[in-house]
Amino acid sequence: MTREVRTRAPGKVNLHLAVGPRQDDGYHELVTVFQAVNLYETVVARARTDSTYTLTVETSPTIAVSPEAIPQDETNLAWRAARLVADEAGITDGIDLHILKRIPVAGGMAGGSADAAASLVACAQAWDVGASRSTLMGWARQLGADVPFALHGATAMGVGRGDDLSPVMTHGEFHWVFATQHDGLSTPAVYAQFDHEVDTGQRLARSPQPDEAVMKALMAGDAHALGAALANDLEGPALTLAPHLRATMDVAREADALGVVVSGSGPTVAALARSRQHALAIAAHLTASDTADAVLTASGPATGAVVMAGDA
Ligand code: C5P
Repeated sequence: MTREVRTRAPGKVNLHLAVGPRQDDGYHELVTVFQAVNLYETVVARARTDSTYTLTVETSPTIAVSPEAIPQDETNLAWRAARLVADEAGITDGIDLHILKRIPVAGGMAGGSADAAASLVACAQAWDVGASRSTLMGWARQLGADVPFALHGATAMGVGRGDDLSPVMTHGEFHWVFATQHDGLSTPAVYAQFDHEVDTGQRLARSPQPDEAVMKALMAGDAHALGAALANDLEGPALTLAPHLRATMDVAREADALGVVVSGSGPTVAALARSRQHALAIAAHLTASDTADAVLTASGPATGAVVMAGDA
């Protein structure tokens, strides 16, 4: 009997993202605090008896993206995750993968990384390779800097490339609004703009440091303090490449968001709300302003990649 395994992994927002100078390998040293939010990618994997790989993609209407916009071949990170599991575990059978996307695409919320994390867990289970959590973490790191966090979930500090994680203590729930854009930003392009600003003296290249205010706010469950502390070194470069995002950020501020920040390398704008009700009010303002292509509400912290029981 072929086994079907259904997994999910969350999207993220960076509450704090400090970027250091570019290193010889092209990556930047980071100190970041990630929070997983309850927008999940679902991956369904079914082991095959031949060596074929297939991938189909479905997108939630909430993200207003057509499935055709997503690569459905070996370049998709979920497919690469499946290949990696097979290579590492000596599996020659193929697999059928299906992805349901609910995280904005190319938005700075690590949707592709969530696909990879969910695919790792699904394939390991479907092929019954018996990989431990730490083995999965090692594989995740090979797939991309944000993949380990999608596996980990909750709230965590990432150092190095952002993939060396330690858990961060939090209290309570935080309510978010995400305003997304059809035209995504390429992460390498945003880092290249950051480098340009360093090279031309517009920005100091500093060794990235943790922010105690973010840690204290999380520990206290103080959304007001967290809102004031939100900071992202990639926000300036992202706004240079996509200046229209300023209007989106202004609308969220006018709706009394506790803090507004570009998520990761953008272009998704994240606004922190006082409550679920307030998040809905900010979302209504953003929708009415017509400065975003889709507006989503979510809360964090959310759990990392897991196998789901039944048809959940
Ligand atoms: O690891 P991942 O493929 O997700 O990274 C995408 C791109 O983001 C890298 O090619 C690199 O340009 C940039 N990046 C970086 N420093 C990091 C993480 C990502 O420069 N710590």
